[in-house]
Amino acid sequence: MRAVVKLGGALFRREPNVTALKAMGEVLSGFVEEGNQLVVVAGGGENARTYIGVARKLGAEESTCDLLGIQITRANAELLRLAMGSIASSKIPTTLSDLPHCVGSGKAVVMGGLQPGQSTNAVAVLAAEITRAEILVNGTDVDGVYTDDPKKNPKAKLIRSVNVDKLLSWAMGGEVFAGRYELLDPLAIKIMQRAKIPTRFVSLADPGNILGALQGKDIGTRVVYS
Ligand code: UTP
Repeated sequence: MRAVVKLGGALFRREPNVTALKAMGEVLSGFVEEGNQLVVVAGGGENARTYIGVARKLGAEESTCDLLGIQITRANAELLRLAMGSIASSKIPTTLSDLPHCVGSGKAVVMGGLQPGQSTNAVAVLAAEITRAEILVNGTDVDGVYTDDPKKNPKAKLIRSVNVDKLLSWAMGGEVFAGRYELLDPLAIKIMQRAKIPTRFVSLADPGNILGALQGKDIGTRVVYS
């Protein structure tokens, strides 16, 4: 199977948790050892937001803030690559055109951001498209897509399947500022619409959720295409 896993900022705390990274790395390495092709995309997390916030206060333009965010996502990718061991390629791709070549090596590829004006969710969808992934699993800090922000609204309900057009209408109402992309940025959803990659959102708190979703288990939220 060809897969892409996006691991959101929840895995990359201010002080990254070695146990959590190891547990995730082991599960993902096991998936690759079974003969599957895998690209893992690391988000920026708290450190990206902190650095972007400080840069903005120092007068940086938004694109400079984005570039700083990208550097942090690549640092996070480096941690994850180490957690996966020798099954992960030592090279972190910095352009999309590098990717088909990197996955051809038989090793897992771990990467971060690519260019300003988007989030690592867009990177994950582009990576899935160019590597012809059969599944994209998006690991977040909540159980899937909710009717509202579950951290702010206790009445928010988990949606088991969501149409991609609905995701786009939500994303269009969001902000496009460094470090402030909501669930998905519009570019990510536009690429999803054209590539129609089977996608599932799950919580990354338990690496078993990521593996379960890769194995086709009906957990979290599934994206449907009309
Ligand atoms: P993300 O927004 O993707 O990481 O990247 P996050 O904040 O941890 O979000 P989740 O939890 O994974 O969803 C951090 C920042 O890096 C810049 C953006 O400013 C983004 O907000 N970035 C990342 C880019 O500009 N381009 C990229 O390709 C990736």
